[in-house]
Amino acid sequence: MTRRAVVKGIGHYLPERIVPNAEFEKTLDTSNDWIVSRSGIERRHFAAEGETTSQLATHAAKAALEMAGMDANDIDAIIVATSTPDNTFPSAATMVQSALGNTTGFAFDVQAVCAGFVYAMSNANAMILAGQADRVLVIGAETFSRIMDWTDRSTCVLFGDGAGALILAAETGNGTSDDRGILATDLNSDGRYKDLLYVDGGVATQNTGVLRMEGKEVFRHAVEKLAQTADAALEKVGLSAEDVDWVVPHQANIRIIQSTARKLGVGMDRVVVTVQDHGNTSAASIPLALSIGVSEGKIKPGDLVVTEAIGGGLAWGAVVLRW
Ligand code: UT7
Repeated sequence: MTRRAVVKGIGHYLPERIVPNAEFEKTLDTSNDWIVSRSGIERRHFAAEGETTSQLATHAAKAALEMAGMDANDIDAIIVATSTPDNTFPSAATMVQSALGNTTGFAFDVQAVCAGFVYAMSNANAMILAGQADRVLVIGAETFSRIMDWTDRSTCVLFGDGAGALILAAETGNGTSDDRGILATDLNSDGRYKDLLYVDGGVATQNTGVLRMEGKEVFRHAVEKLAQTADAALEKVGLSAEDVDWVVPHQANIRIIQSTARKLGVGMDRVVVTVQDHGNTSAASIPLALSIGVSEGKIKPGDLVVTEAIGGGLAWGAVVLRW
């Protein structure tokens, strides 16, 4: 008998304002055609003035709690994956805890940029396997619109805001890859590449700063590393791409998603794609895509799901789970 972290509920939230590519044509030397052909993005959501990451996260968390049929105080731990917390501290997770009215658990943030949700799921899984928590609320939430340089056409057209949340709970499995729940995780980072994707401000500069990216270089690493990490996670439980029902990738660029699927040997009919509607929502992109995959009836109980992501750090990783 093995302890497993099994998904009990999922939900997401997107800010009301939808910004189509055409809006950028008014202020930048860009075009809908360029953005669609180079990234696959058609539109994204931007938070309203004063709308914060923890607010988006709280909406998503409430939807996940509702699906799980749980109250806020049924949760032992809240992890928020974000690089855009409302404040430097306290954590966005404690703000969500307060907004939900949870007084029985503990809460903290995980910061691994676009790989944040994979890192947070891995943390939640480890805490559940160690018996430190039975029910963990894992959230990915971002307001990247707050850290854009609106004069830099090579970055500001790519990102969006949103949040997704899922609840993992301890269950007993047989210890085989047929068990429901998280079956394997694979985490990596290489700080030698820290200058490829970063925000040029923070505590050290006493201002928030804006995102800077060597897009071509990040693209090159993404195409190389995402299939590797997904394969590595599958191999840990003796599974291969043939066993996979759904790949739910980080949604940064349709060309990266297609190339990774090709390398893995998984057809695009088994990949959940939301990049056209959300842009790159960093740590929120995987839980958003999972939630939409479930609500569209694609991901069903018993399906083998692989998530993979890469972002600033560089940090990357994958999670294999049976829904
Ligand atoms: O989530 C974290 C991970 N992030 C990513 O995975 C992003 C990875 N990178 C990418 O997705 C792609 O590299 C981009 C979408 C950022 C760029 O696509 P690309 O095919 O690598 O284009 P490029 O950077 O080679 O740029 C091609 C041209 C350049 O012009 P020149 O130098 O060839 O004259 C750019 O200046 O396109 C130009 N360009 C634009 N043109 C119109 C860059 N941004 C724009 C724009 N509109 N918005």
